[in-house]
Formats: sequence, C-alpha cells, structure tokens
Amino acid sequence: MKIKVITLFPAMVETVLEESLLGKARAKGILSIDVVNLRDFTEGRHQVADDYPYGGGAGMVLKPEPIFRTVESLKKELPDARVIYLSPQGERFDHEMAQSLAADTRPQIFLCGRYEGIDERARVALVDREISIGDYVLNGGELAALVVIEAAARFVPGVLGDDRSADQDSFSDGLLDYPHFTRPPDFEGMKVPEVLLSGNHENIRVWRRKEALRATWLKRPELLTRMEQEGRLSAEDMRFLREISGTDA
Ligand code: ADE
Repeated sequence: MKIKVITLFPAMVETVLEESLLGKARAKGILSIDVVNLRDFTEGRHQVADDYPYGGGAGMVLKPEPIFRTVESLKKELPDARVIYLSPQGERFDHEMAQSLAADTRPQIFLCGRYEGIDERARVALVDREISIGDYVLNGGELAALVVIEAAARFVPGVLGDDRSADQDSFSDGLLDYPHFTRPPDFEGMKVPEVLLSGNHENIRVWRRKEALRATWLKRPELLTRMEQEGRLSAEDMRFLREISGTDA
C-alpha cells in the first residue's frame, strides 16, 4: 500500500506508524506511508488553516485553500491516488472495507479533518470516499485514519510476519474469534481445554469452530442472523448452534 496522510498533527500520526508491525513493514518497504503537514500548505506569517463557519455556530472549519494545495501537490506525484476523508458522516468502516482498501493498488491519500470538519467545497471537489470508524465524534480524523490504515495493512502480505494471516482473525469467516490459550496448561487451577493439548487436529478444528459460534451467539448474535441469511452456515454449524443454544429450533 502506498499511503499519504494529510494532517495538522503529523507527530500524532507518525508516532503510531513508527511502532510495532506497521513500523517494521514501513522499514522493509512493504508499506509506504508518508505524513504530510497541512500547515506547510498554508499561507502568511500565521499559517492559518482554519476559520469561522459561515452562518455562525460553535467551532472552526478547515479552510479550503491549504487542502486544495496539499491534495493537488500530492496528485502531481500520484495522479491516480484516491482521496479518503475521515469523518463521522462517512460510510461505516468494517472488515470488508479494510480488505478492499488493502487490495486497491492505487495510492491512497487520507485526509484528516479537525474541529467541525473541512470546507464543503474541498470535500465535494477532492474526496473520493468518506469513511467513519463509528457513530461517535472524535476530535479529528487522525485516530480514525490510523485505525483504517492498521486494519487494512493487516491484509497486506508480509505485514503480519511469515506464519500469520489476517484470514484467521475474527470476522474473516463472519464469526468472532475462538478463545486462545498458551502455557502453562494449568494456571492456578484454571486449565487449558484438554482437546487443545491432544494434538488431534480434527478435534481441535471442531472445538474452535464451536467456540467461535458460541462467542458470536453470546456476544454478537446479529452476525449469525446475517450469516444464516447469506447461506454461510453449514449443516455442521447449525448442529453446533442447536447444541450451544440448547434448543431444537
Ligand atoms: N472524525 C471525527 N470523528 C470521526 C469518526 N467517528 N470516524 C472518522 N473520522 C472522524
């Protein structure tokens, strides 16, 4: 993935991107992510990036000129780049969207709003896709951009390391993840389920599938309803679910 992040708070974004798996993937060149300071594209001694909203009301709005200048300058270098604006008014971000962003070969410019957002003319003229990470309001798009970038980057081969794959995570098959255990096998009387120590791969597969179904049934039952409607539950799954819920329904 080739990504540019436009923000008034570059240090906030850079700090996170330097760490852990994302930092390593950037160092290896698997991910190319540059943080661009919107302030560098402002004018005048005071480098003002925001102004009062027409019509009055609380808060400030990011001015159109620096946003146009920044995006246009990035697009000179990356003409086929897509501009993604993070805002609470956007499409709700989810697993499928993360996967599709990771598969998109075009460069992606993440535009982070602040205050009440960006001037509408910049949004209409420049933005290809508006994404929200949930129905709540953050102080700006930076944390949202980081969430989207991290979730998408997990689908880029090499980011998770050799033996791991995002295909095994929660949501990849529509279900929540099954529980995980590591050593010791007995911690203060709390034991690891026997089947996981058995080495019997078929029994382990069945246990994990059942536990994924159980977790989903207990915590996010609406996901099962959707999967059933989409025909994504096997006869074995339905049998497990009847067992779990203790009914014959
Ligand atoms: N900016 C402010 N709140 C946001 C949200 N919920 N999602 C994406 N960007 C945002």
